[in-house]
Amino acid sequence: MAEHVLVTGAAGRIGRCLADGLPAHGHTLRLLDMVPIEDTPHEVVVGDITDPAVLERAMKGVTAVVHLAGIPSTSASFERLLTANIEGTYRVFEAARAAGAGRLVYASSNHAVGFVPRSEMAPADPPIAPDSHYGVSKAYGEALGRYYADRYGMRVASLRIGTFAPRPPSPRSLSTWISPGDMVRLVQACLTAPDLTYAAVWGVSANTRRWWDLSVGRALGYEPEDDAEAYAEGMPELDPDDPEYAYVGGNVVRD
Ligand SMILES: NC(=O)c1ccc[n+]([C@@H]2O[C@H](COP(=O)([O-])OP(=O)(O)OC[C@H]3O[C@@H](n4cnc5c(N)ncnc54)[C@H](O)[C@@H]3O)[C@@H](O)[C@H]2O)c1
Repeated sequence: MAEHVLVTGAAGRIGRCLADGLPAHGHTLRLLDMVPIEDTPHEVVVGDITDPAVLERAMKGVTAVVHLAGIPSTSASFERLLTANIEGTYRVFEAARAAGAGRLVYASSNHAVGFVPRSEMAPADPPIAPDSHYGVSKAYGEALGRYYADRYGMRVASLRIGTFAPRPPSPRSLSTWISPGDMVRLVQACLTAPDLTYAAVWGVSANTRRWWDLSVGRALGYEPEDDAEAYAEGMPELDPDDPEYAYVGGNVVRD
């Protein structure tokens, strides 16, 4: 089904990818960011997600939300995360509910579960174990998603995104990479899956070396097409005892 989708954080890396890729699936997009977005065929709202008046305007007529806006850094201070990721995410969920948008796709992160040792990991659904205040802020967003699904019947997917990039930038990302094409396929699946209630879904491509299970995503209709292995030549092997390899969140556990 074609949705009228608000994309928050649409000027960012993932936002630009979705603004290019989602319309081919029939959706109408409205883009929201605190920085201006030019040269786009889509409607744009410039403003801050912590401002309820901005969100009320941005949510008018919207049936689904893809919430990307926030600070994406594992080294960000609690004070910055408190405003953008915690207050901002609450305001986006609340504005979506008030506007009657029934579906929300939330950009969580592998860092919400980053302290899980990979050797002990239940591949599909490891427990919350943040590796940073950033990871804690993402765990909060996941909890909000579950709450809005249970309390208000919204359909919510939390994407535990690995490493989004045009190509894998590091040895670790041969396991954690999600390609731009697969990101569009994943969000498209979450926007249209008829049986979605609440799900935490790994945001990862079909990497030969992936650590994370695709079964939850596949049950929603996500069929990744890319594999980081195509870029593996020349990358050094990771030492299994190196935190970069041994923990879901990689080196962030020792920062
Ligand atoms: N890129 C990755 O590999 C990755 C991995 C895991 C999770 N994520 C999550 O995905 C989301 C998008 O990531 P990205 O890589 O595109 O980040 P990005 O920094 O490129 O984009 C984020 C966008 O959000 C906007 N923004 C920030 N605070 C805002 C506010 N208060 N109001 C309105 N707009 C605001 C910024 O202007 C920016 O355009 C983030 O929430 C990030 O935590 C990304």
